[in-house]
Amino acid sequence: MSKERKILELKEKIEKARLGGGEEAIQKQHQKGKLTARERIDLMLDPNSFEEVDMFRTHTCIDFGMAEKQIMGDGIVTGYGTIHGRLVFVYSFDFTVFGGSLSKVVGEKVVKVLEMAAKVGAPVIGINDSGGARIQEGVDSLAGYTEIFLRNVLYSGVIPQISAIVGPCAGGAVYSPALTDFIFMVRNSAYMFLTGPKIVKTVTHEDVSADELGGADVHATKSGITHFTYNDEQSLFADIRRLITYLPQNNMEETPVNRNDDPANRVEEDLNYIVPDNPNKPYDMRDILIKILDKGEFLEVQELYAANILIGFGRLNGKSIGIVANQPKVLAGVLDSNASNKAARFVRFCDAFNIPIVTFEDVPGFMPGTIQEFNGIIKHGAKLLYAYAEATVPRITVITRKGYGGAFCVMNSKQLRGDYSFAWPSAEIAVMGPQGASEIIFAKEIKEAENPEAKFAEKVEEYRDKFANPYVAAAKGYIDEVIEPKITRYKLIKSLEMLSSKRDDNPTKKHGNIPL
Ligand code: HXC
Repeated sequence: MSKERKILELKEKIEKARLGGGEEAIQKQHQKGKLTARERIDLMLDPNSFEEVDMFRTHTCIDFGMAEKQIMGDGIVTGYGTIHGRLVFVYSFDFTVFGGSLSKVVGEKVVKVLEMAAKVGAPVIGINDSGGARIQEGVDSLAGYTEIFLRNVLYSGVIPQISAIVGPCAGGAVYSPALTDFIFMVRNSAYMFLTGPKIVKTVTHEDVSADELGGADVHATKSGITHFTYNDEQSLFADIRRLITYLPQNNMEETPVNRNDDPANRVEEDLNYIVPDNPNKPYDMRDILIKILDKGEFLEVQELYAANILIGFGRLNGKSIGIVANQPKVLAGVLDSNASNKAARFVRFCDAFNIPIVTFEDVPGFMPGTIQEFNGIIKHGAKLLYAYAEATVPRITVITRKGYGGAFCVMNSKQLRGDYSFAWPSAEIAVMGPQGASEIIFAKEIKEAENPEAKFAEKVEEYRDKFANPYVAAAKGYIDEVIEPKITRYKLIKSLEMLSSKRDDNPTKKHGNIPL
């Protein structure tokens, strides 16, 4: 064969491989409102930056007539490219090839990019649209999945791992995304569950659709499995690009800095008036965050789950920070099991990837009651305590209003190695709220009073005057500075700069035992 012919052959092969399962299957995919594996990669990466690995690999199964059904690349497209000029690795299940099911070879292709990503220290993004284990391959497929799970775990905390769910994701297939750091899910065409509606019907007699069982909204609001939810794939991939800008390439890199023209000393007069005078009146903590962060940009994570706590990314003077904030607008910002879990995982992510954490605090305490206690709030709250306590990144707190009881200890207190604590003059820092405290310590006095109601109100006021302010804590050094709210941005930037060379360690150990 001449050299020209050989090159022509290569080009033909590449062209054929790029068609995956063929024109008809691509058309079917589009009719379902879904993009193909390669269209998704193109949408997510910088233009023309994708380099495909293992394009010519084919499956090795000979059962059920599979030997005759060979498609180059098998059910997945893998490789590397860039997002905003930064290297990322990607694997994208190709539903047009045997429903994107996972064969031994598909598993090996995923493992190859995961290993490359870990070796060079770059984020990896998995795009999931798959019928699960390749049924014709049986146990080989299970082994393939397990090899992936192992890498997901070994590289957890080494490189950021991101999953997009843009089609079916069932059975063991859900565990790889579950092991990654962030899950992005699209409405209508995507679902995640361990067992599908048919098996659910047989085992539990429940009638439930795929969407009701594991659609994007279910996982965004009820299970908390997903971190980001979208109506279309375009917005989903645009936001993966956005998330990447906040993250370092790996755990050895410093936090990324994206300079912008927002002045470090910007004063926000409104912040002086944002916290209502009535301590029981809610306000939206997001309004505060937006005024403080660079350009008012806050990339909120798990927005629809446990809305009594806010987590997400922002920037201060260009530098990425992770934000954890009680949300007084929802359940008065109380800490419950779901909020504790949500925040704990986020704190650990930030700590693993050297992203400083700023905590905004307005918390009346932990949620009381049988529902929470039976559900294990003790261990879930302990997770948040644990996550903060072991975090060695710079950690700053701003107490805007309530810092009560155990929740005060948990929310990045100085005694948990929080580095710097600010309080606004509206802060109330005490062992419990004035009502609860008065009911207990003045019980006898109130009971014996001529007018118990008036006595109670008087005692609540007395307690509030004495303890519901930042100055008792500041006098004891539990708060480093009481500041005017309007200069919070500047104060945070200054303290983050001061902490930028922070070095802290935990005792040598194999690993701790977080209360799971
Ligand atoms: C092999 C599969 C497949 C699979 C789909 N296909 N799933 N081939 N193994 N797991 C093939 C179909 O035969 C079909 O081939 C093509 O992919 C497209 O599938 P359709 O059914 O036409 O598509 P759609 O109607 O969109 O339905 C998608 C689906 C359905 C809901 C995912 O295909 C389905 O239920 N598949 C089986 C899901 C499943 O039970 N998987 C195993 C889970 S157990 P043709 O040639 O007709 O185009 C598991 C255990 C892992 O994953 C444990 C790891 C620890």
